[in-house]
Parts: sequence; C-alpha cells; structure tokens
Amino acid sequence: MPIYESTSEWISFGLAGPLRRRAVAFLRSHRPEWVLDSGVGPGVSSRILLEDGFENIVGLDPSIHLVRFAKSRLGRRFCPVVGVAENLPFRAGSLGAVITCFSLRDVVNVGQSLDEFAHATRRGGALAVVDIGKPDIGFWRSLIGFYISHIMPILARFATCGRTSGNPFRMIIPTWKKLRTNKQLLDLIEQSFGPCMLKSFFLGGLVVFEADRFSVWKDVFQ
Ligand SMILES: C[S@@+](CC[C@H](N)C(=O)[O-])C[C@H]1O[C@@H](n2cnc3c(N)ncnc32)[C@H](O)[C@@H]1O
Repeated sequence: MPIYESTSEWISFGLAGPLRRRAVAFLRSHRPEWVLDSGVGPGVSSRILLEDGFENIVGLDPSIHLVRFAKSRLGRRFCPVVGVAENLPFRAGSLGAVITCFSLRDVVNVGQSLDEFAHATRRGGALAVVDIGKPDIGFWRSLIGFYISHIMPILARFATCGRTSGNPFRMIIPTWKKLRTNKQLLDLIEQSFGPCMLKSFFLGGLVVFEADRFSVWKDVFQ
C-alpha cells in the first residue's frame, strides 16, 4: 500500500495524480454534499477530495483491509463502507456525486454499477470516472495493449524495487483485456447516468469521464 501511489504515478507517466485532481475539480460544486469514492482502495482520491475542501466522503471497497487503511489515514470526514459498486447500500438520491478512480474496470458488472451510481445520486448530481482507457481505433488499441501487457509490468517491477511479493500491478492486464472501448463505455455511462464528456490522454490509454445526472435523461432520450 505505501508504494501503490508512487508506482501508479510511475506507470502512468505522472498522469494518475493530475487526472484524479481533474476529476475532483469537476465535482467541486458538490463539496458540501455526500460524495462516494467507489473502489476507494488505500484512499488516494479521497485524500485529494478532503484536501480540496469536500466535507463528507463515503469510501466504498470490497476489501476490509483497504477501507481500514484508508480510514486510518483520512480521519473523521471519511466514512468507510465495505461493499461493492454493483449493490450500493445507499438510499435513492442520497449522494451529491460519485467518483471512481482506476476501479470501474475492476467491477464484475459495469452496467449494474453505473445504474447503482445513478440511483444513489440526486438530480443535478455528477459522476467522475478516471481509468485506464481502451482506444476505439485498432492501431492505438494494439499499442496501448502492448504497453499494458509488456512494458507496464517491467516499469512496475522496477518502481517497487522488489518491495512486494510478485508483481501486483500485473492484475491490470486481465482487467484491461475485458474492458469496453472508450466509446462503448461513454455510451453506457450516458444510458445509465446522463450526458457525459470523455477526455482522452496518452493516446486514449488514460481517460476521464465527466457525467451529469439528469433525472429525465432516460425518459427523454430513450
Ligand atoms: C486499482 S484499485 C484503485 C484504488 C483507488 N480508487 C485509486 O484511485 O487509487 C481498484 C479498487 O477497486 C476495488 N474493487 C474491486 N471490485 C470492486 C467492486 N465490485 N466494487 C467496488 N470496488 C471494487 C478493489 O478492491 C480496489 O481497491
């Protein structure tokens, strides 16, 4: 856990932090509300939210070890919850916003998770997704696939300097393989949550989705 953030920065060529901060900036108008950090892990994005003045964060993760670790670092404005994005334990419309960084590709059912985010977020709320991307154009997809499968594990091994057993960053490879392309994920977010902007970085290998929750979205456009 202590080397997770620095290794993430290393393998994303220094973009992971700035993209998290970009997503946090998009959600700024929801500072006084409850904001869900789904797949909170060791709490990197929640820490940035709290430093930015967000008042109440719910950090959700299936791993009790990770939410305990995040809680130990983040204090009383951070509320840890053990759970999964596919089945959120929140009342309808109880959240102002949802952020999920490098975690949406880990969930078993992406469509169900997005429906849950939409259900738990109030009208006028927002969703920010930061993740590894899968470009729609075959050439760039192959290039990013090559980086993820062959170069990223070597960089991660180098960055961790043998301080972990095995190479936990290899877990990215199967999750990237099952990932939808950027455009497919954009369509899914728009269907479940509301109108969404996709920002691509690193040839589409890193993405930020910024979506607004319109209650009438589904009724008007489907
Ligand atoms: C790569 S970590 C990202 C952690 C953190 N969000 C960050 O930005 O550094 C992915 C996290 O997603 C969590 N996760 C896996 N399946 C999940 C699910 N179904 N619902 C919510 N979180 C999940 C994992 O336990 C892990 O902590």
